[in-house]
Order: sequence, then C-alpha cells, then structure tokens
Amino acid sequence: MSKLDICKVSLGINSYKIFIGKDIHRSITNYISNYKTYSSTIVISDKNIYEKNSLLFKKYLKKEIEFELIILPQGEKIKSFKYLEFIIEKILKLEIDRDTLLICIGGGVLGDLVGLASSLVLRGLDFIQIPSTLLAQVDSSVGGKTGINSKYGKNLVGSFKQPKSVIISTDILKTLKKRDIKSGYAEILKYSFINDKKFFNWLVSNGKKVISLNTESCIYAIKKSCTIKSKIVSKDEKEKGMRELLNFGHTFGHVIESVTGYKDKIKHGEAIFIGMYLAIKFSILLKICKKDVLEKYSCHLKNLKINHKLSSYNIKISPERFLQHMKFDKKVKNSKIKLILIKDIGVPVRLFVEDEKLLSNFLKNELK
Ligand SMILES: NC(=O)c1ccc[n+]([C@@H]2O[C@H](COP(=O)([O-])OP(=O)(O)OC[C@H]3O[C@@H](n4cnc5c(N)ncnc54)[C@H](O)[C@@H]3O)[C@@H](O)[C@H]2O)c1
Repeated sequence: MSKLDICKVSLGINSYKIFIGKDIHRSITNYISNYKTYSSTIVISDKNIYEKNSLLFKKYLKKEIEFELIILPQGEKIKSFKYLEFIIEKILKLEIDRDTLLICIGGGVLGDLVGLASSLVLRGLDFIQIPSTLLAQVDSSVGGKTGINSKYGKNLVGSFKQPKSVIISTDILKTLKKRDIKSGYAEILKYSFINDKKFFNWLVSNGKKVISLNTESCIYAIKKSCTIKSKIVSKDEKEKGMRELLNFGHTFGHVIESVTGYKDKIKHGEAIFIGMYLAIKFSILLKICKKDVLEKYSCHLKNLKINHKLSSYNIKISPERFLQHMKFDKKVKNSKIKLILIKDIGVPVRLFVEDEKLLSNFLKNELK
C-alpha cells in the first residue's frame, strides 16, 4: 500500500477525513467508514473520465463494490437545472432508499452537481468525493459547497452538504489535459496568497514540478491546500465570516465565466488567475498593497507559462457589464460589493467597495 496522508475537516457530527495518496482510488472501501451498512451504491462520473480511466471502473471498482453507474456529459454546462433534474430522475429510477451511497468521481463541475443532488434526493443521501482534477483535489471536493449556475450568475443555486470522506489519488490526474492541470493550480496559488507566504515561496521553487505532476510535489501542494481549506471551513462552515477569504479572485473571476456563458473559452481556474490579478491590482490602487506583490505574482505565472490577463484569452467585456455582473455576486450586501483584497502575500482583507466610481474607473482602465 502506498504512503497515506490524512487531513481532517472538523465539523462536529459532520466531520470527515481527506485521504491523500498516489493510487488509493484503487481500494476505496478502506476509506469509507461502515461501507457494509449501505443498501446500495451509485457511482456517478462523466464521459471523459469514464473513457480515459476505464480500468478504474471496469477493474478496480468492480473488484471492490457492487454499483450502478451513471455517466454524464462533461463541461461546466452540466452545472444547470437541466442536468440537476436529469441526474435526480436517473437516481430515483433506480428505486433507491435512504441508505444509498453516492460516489462522485469527477472534477469540480461534477462534484458540485452531485453534491447538490445528494442533498436533495430523499432529503439527503451520503456521498463520497473521489476528485479527479487537480482543482477538485485542492479545493472543490472539500468544504461541502455544492451548486449549479443560473443565467444571473455562477453558483447562485446550491447547498452546504459535506461528503462522508474525500479520497484523493494523484495517479488519477495522469489523464488530465495540461490546460486543466494549470487551471487547478489557480486554487493552490490562491491558498498561498490568502494564508501562507512560505507556501508561496515553496511554489515559486516547486510550481513547475506540481504542474508536471511530480507525485511528491503534488501531494505536498494538495495536502497544504486541503489543510488550509479544512481549517477555514472548520471555523466557518456556512461562510458567515472568514470562509469568504476563499473567494480571493473569485468575484472578478465569476464575472468572466458568467459573461462567457460557462463555455470552454475560459476554465474556472483561468478566470481565477485573472481575478486574482485584478484583485491585487485593485489593492495596489487602494494603497493597501505594495507593487512588488503584483510583480511576484506575474513573474511566477510567467515562469509557468500561465496567462493572467483577459486580453490573452481573447475575451472582451465592457466595464459597465462587468460591474453589473459583480453586483449579482453572492458577496453583495446592502448593494455594496464585497471584495477579498490583499495587503501582502498571506495577508488577505475583506473590504466593501464604498466608492463604486473608483471601481468603475479601475475596470475601464483594465478592460480597454
Ligand atoms: N464547491 C467548491 O467549493 C468549489 C471550489 C472551487 C471550484 N468549484 C467549481 O469547480 C468547477 C471547476 O472544476 P474543474 O476545474 O475540476 O473542471 P471540470 O470538472 O469541468 O473538469 C475539467 C475537465 O477535465 C475532465 N476530467 C476530469 N477528470 C479527469 C481525468 N482524471 N482525466 C481526464 N479528464 C478528466 C472533465 O471531463 C472536464 O472536461 C467550477 O464549476 C467551479 O465553480 C467549486
């Protein structure tokens, strides 16, 4: 058996463990407590993962468990009312009872959708996350946020539903496209910016190894990210306070995803790279952050050949439209936009935009 790392998300009776290893997805029942008490198991994945990891479904899972399989199409488009209904009806058609276990093998998109379905079907079924993208391994599979998108904005419909455990194997990432690996790196970089300057310095030296999926470096970055997220979520499960820090780069980033219609033109992580860039630049404009933070950010991404400017993605958004979408974000209170900004690497700050004109002029400048 390969080396195993464990993080814990402490949430009282909803506490759970995150298991991290090289190939632990091949023996999942070791990481699901009381597996034998479930009456049935449904595995849900997407077409891409199923086709690229056929051994997992046809050999390893079959050897371990009896299950029904539901395969969905891939892509952000499935985070929709249409596919929520589709998956719920598929599950119900199997004549399940409340002791049914859902196992989600997928990226952040599938995890968000299956998590939401699991909180709704029969008023709640247990579910396990086996995240199959770097982004899902370092972020979306942990913390219990589920959701789908609305035409009014990203993740506007959802619930908090914690998984029973999270099983992370770095080997499962081997079939992932380079673009998706780089996209996942956005959330790793986010953790360093909101919590840990030393981790940022480690990324400066080891980022290339993470992106090339060196096992040891990946496990270190995944464990570090999961530990930071677990600590924050354990203190503020329902995002009443410090959990908001996890949205660094996201208020700007979500606008880009929403305006482009959740298409493949831009991946979630790519939008977050741009969002973090804008958040750092706006922090500098407000004179709460020094210019060298932006230089360090840009230089690191340049070394990794990652774009962080909207123009590189051939996307045009008018400043008026951008601002209008920012106002639809969940972080708006009393019609004031709340942003997560940065004082220094590792030192985030929550701030309401008091002077909307300033933000509007900033966007005019950045989006021209
Ligand atoms: N719930 C949360 O806390 C949270 C946090 C961050 C992001 N998110 C959400 O996560 C989503 C983005 O997730 P993502 O970047 O994982 O994208 P994704 O789920 O769309 O996966 C990216 C692509 O990789 C494919 N894929 C997945 N695993 C694979 C594998 N092992 N081999 C080959 N192909 C594979 C998928 O089919 C898809 O085409 C966004 O919707 C975002 O809002 C949620």
